[in-house]
Amino acid sequence: MRVLVVGGAGYIGSHATRALRRHGYEVIIYDNLSTGYKFLADGFELITGDIADPAKLAEVMKRADAVMHFAAHAYVGESVENPRKYFQNNVEAALTLLNTALDTGVRKFVFSSSCAVYGVPLTVPIPESNPRQPVNPYGASKLFVENALEAYDRAYGMRFASLRYFNAAGADESGEIGELHEPETHLIPLALAAAAGKGAKLQVFGTDYPTPDGTCVRDYIHVNDLAEAHVLALEQVTKENEPLALNLGTGQGYSVMEVINTVERITGRAVPRSIAPRRAGDPPALVADSKRAQQVLGWRPRRSLQEIVSTAWKWMQRRA
Ligand code: UFG
Repeated sequence: MRVLVVGGAGYIGSHATRALRRHGYEVIIYDNLSTGYKFLADGFELITGDIADPAKLAEVMKRADAVMHFAAHAYVGESVENPRKYFQNNVEAALTLLNTALDTGVRKFVFSSSCAVYGVPLTVPIPESNPRQPVNPYGASKLFVENALEAYDRAYGMRFASLRYFNAAGADESGEIGELHEPETHLIPLALAAAAGKGAKLQVFGTDYPTPDGTCVRDYIHVNDLAEAHVLALEQVTKENEPLALNLGTGQGYSVMEVINTVERITGRAVPRSIAPRRAGDPPALVADSKRAQQVLGWRPRRSLQEIVSTAWKWMQRRA
C-alpha cells in the first residue's frame, strides 16, 4: 500500500514516514516546506507542494492508496491572534485535500487531531466522549476536519481515523530526526535549550494552578509512540471498521516542575528559570484517557518521560 504523507517533512510526520516504512508501506511525502525541512524527508520521495493546490495534489493523489494528514499550523496562541491563517490552512486547504482524495477515489484517511478539540475538559483523564467544545481557533479548526470526515464517511464511505494527540515530544532514537520549530514554544525543547545555556531562561508559566505543585500538568507522549499508533490506525481504517476517534496519550500527567526536574537529571545541568504569569489559554491539567486507543489498536505507549527527554536531548546535541 502506498501512503501519501502530507506534512511528512515536519516533526510528527517525519517520524510517521519512518514507522510506515518499518512496517512495509511505500511512502510519498507531500509538503510545502513552510515549516517542514527537506532533510527530514531524506530517503523518501518528496513532492514540494501546497495542500491548497488541487491540481498538484490530484497528480500525486492518483498514485496513493491512503492519506495521512499532518500539514497544519499548530500554535494555539497564534491561532487566537491570526485565526484567518488557521482557518485558511487547517480548514479550507484541508478540505481541498479531503475533496481531492474523494475525487481520486482514495477512501482511507488518517488525521492529526488534537486534545484541543475538547476545550476545557469536564473530567481529567479525558475520555473520547468528553464534549468537543474547543476554546481557540486552532482547536476549532481541528474539530471542523473531524466533523467533515464524519460527514464524508456517512455520505461517501470515507474511512478515517481522527487521532487526538496530547503533548507530542521526544525524538527518534537514531538522533537523525526530531523537533524543530521556529519559533520554539514547547516546554521540553525550551527547558533543554536553557540547560544547554543556548536559550533564554525558561519561564515557568504560572505556579498557582490547582495542581499538586501549582504548575500545569500535561500528558507527554513520545513521537515514536504516536507514529506507531498511526500505522495501527491505518490498519484499522483498511479493515473497514467503524470510524475511529482516539486519544493518543499515556494517561500519565507530569507537571512543568516534574518535567524540569527530569531535564536536570538527564542532562546533569541546572535549568535556569524564572516564574512568570500564567500563559493565556492554558488549562491546569490535560491528561488522556487512552484506554480506547489501547483496546482498538492493540497499542501501548512504550516510552517514558525519561526517554522522551533523553531522545530530545540527544537530538539537540547532534544539531548543535
Ligand atoms: N510552559 C512553560 N514555559 C514555557 C513553555 C511551556 O511553563 O516556556 C508550560 C505551559 O504553560 C504548559 C506546559 O508547559 O503548561 C506545556 O506547554 P507546551 O507549549 O509545551 O504545550 P501545550 O500543552 O501548550 O500544547 C500542546 C500541543 C498543542 C496543542 C495543545 C492543546 O503542543 O499543539 O497542547 O492544548 F494544541
